[in-house]
Amino acid sequence: MTIKQIPTQPFSDQRPGTSGLRKKVTRFQQPHYLENFVQSIFDSVGDIQGKTIVVGGDGRYYNQQAIQIIIRMAAANGIGRVMVGRAGLLSTPAASTVIRKYRTHGGIILSASHNPGGPDGDFGIKYNTANGGPAPEKITEAIYQRSREIEHYLILDSIDTPLDQCGSYSVGNMTVEVIDPVADYAELMEELFDFDAIHDLLTGGFALRFDAMHAITGPYAREILENRLGAAAGTVMNGNPLPDFGGHHPDPNLAHAKALVEQLFSEEGPDFGAASDGDGDRNMILGKNFYVTPSDSLALLTANANLVPGYQKGIAGVARSMPTSLAVDRVAERLGIDCYETPTGWKFFGNLMDAGKVTLCGEESFGTGSSHIREKDGLWAVLFWLNILAARKQSVADIVQQHWAEYGRNFYTRHDYEEVDMEEAQGIMEHLEQQFPTLTGRRLGSYRVEQCDNFSYTDPVDGSTSSSQGIRILFEGGSRIVYRLSGTGTVGATLRVYIESYDPDPRNHQQDPQQALEPLIDIAVELGQIDSRTGRTRPSVIT
Ligand code: G1P
Ligand code: ZN
Repeated sequence: MTIKQIPTQPFSDQRPGTSGLRKKVTRFQQPHYLENFVQSIFDSVGDIQGKTIVVGGDGRYYNQQAIQIIIRMAAANGIGRVMVGRAGLLSTPAASTVIRKYRTHGGIILSASHNPGGPDGDFGIKYNTANGGPAPEKITEAIYQRSREIEHYLILDSIDTPLDQCGSYSVGNMTVEVIDPVADYAELMEELFDFDAIHDLLTGGFALRFDAMHAITGPYAREILENRLGAAAGTVMNGNPLPDFGGHHPDPNLAHAKALVEQLFSEEGPDFGAASDGDGDRNMILGKNFYVTPSDSLALLTANANLVPGYQKGIAGVARSMPTSLAVDRVAERLGIDCYETPTGWKFFGNLMDAGKVTLCGEESFGTGSSHIREKDGLWAVLFWLNILAARKQSVADIVQQHWAEYGRNFYTRHDYEEVDMEEAQGIMEHLEQQFPTLTGRRLGSYRVEQCDNFSYTDPVDGSTSSSQGIRILFEGGSRIVYRLSGTGTVGATLRVYIESYDPDPRNHQQDPQQALEPLIDIAVELGQIDSRTGRTRPSVIT
């Protein structure tokens, strides 16, 4: 087997976004495109000679082909061992688990998360460091810089490695170890949660439905919920991973997990419902006739962590991304722990967790997690909820409503305008910034602007600064409007508008959030001149 040095030319569009490099499958299939990026990773992540890396993905279209290329390139670049999930599968949280457990140099995760898959869908690749978390900006920037000057890449001239069975294979001087993608992750979950109590709950008449959305969590959920925790066979729906996710967006929200939502909102529906996304790091939580917002979920997990064995020794602190609602801040205040506000994207939580400052963290975008790994974790959140339900023996709705009564309710919604023209979207952001000097103190409807800025974050651990992370209009009394442009889209721009108000009075807590927030939603549209600048009269997705 010979190592080939293939001449290549840089592509100009390989700057990683919120969560790695994400493009259309067809872009990745262009000659040298994937190879250039993989070589740029290997050139930018320190000395990899003889080291071990983890490789796996969410099973989407092009996953297997990409893994074979990465294996051949890893061997040619002197890597000692590659650990690959069987059939090329590893959920993002499982990849993080394996990187940490076996103390590997890092890992490459192939996923475009919740974006659609298939030949015309999206593909993605990201690098995680030895702590199991997404590479920090310093490294993703180095990868990008390298991709702009790359002249050749190294690849071994070898046949494909069989990935369908666990075992060890030699590829040149490198070992490929095909591992069970579920085992290490399931073991970690057993350490954190009270499996006996959850088993009793699930075998005692409590009905659960989990929607794997034809994505990666099917095998994980079947093993953990059905095999180990005794949930009835068939609890896991859409449990077989498909390369095109059955043609759907594997995104666990009210819009894309419709069938599950309908079940939970029907007469005969189960007591608890949950779903996860393409690569298994997101979660949606539903009770009977009840939807739990991700922001409320984070607040609730924090308030009830003392019921869960893995967290009984206490919580160091919590973190949320800036646009995530302030519900968790109130819990942190009462618990007397720190609450950090970071830019969007999981990579910012890593430093805080490594430094022991934070135990739980989350984002409004259906992501919750803890320091057990360095990624958000869909099934972990589901198990956390099941553990709380097993301990409190109340319904989801009762638990959440009790929480609101105690802390007040943060009404919250996110309005997304997808596939907007990039210049129009940037125009909105500029127009908003231009208004800053005259906004503070101004009255808009019944709200008075207290402060406005473009969010900037200085990492308390390494001192690095990230600026322009989203425009915040903060009102007196705790209401907010936040505008930001997505960093994960692949077509045009996605404008996200996050709207939030706070109401301490339990008599108002039953309102529908869209209604409760209507005046603020109108202000948000007007202030950004969203209709006139984009021609859109309503958002594409409301969550
Ligand atoms: C979106 C979410 C963000 C999440 C990211 C990766 O990023 O908003 O919270 O971390 O996906 O799952 P965005 O498209 O907003 O940049
Ligand atoms: Zn994801």
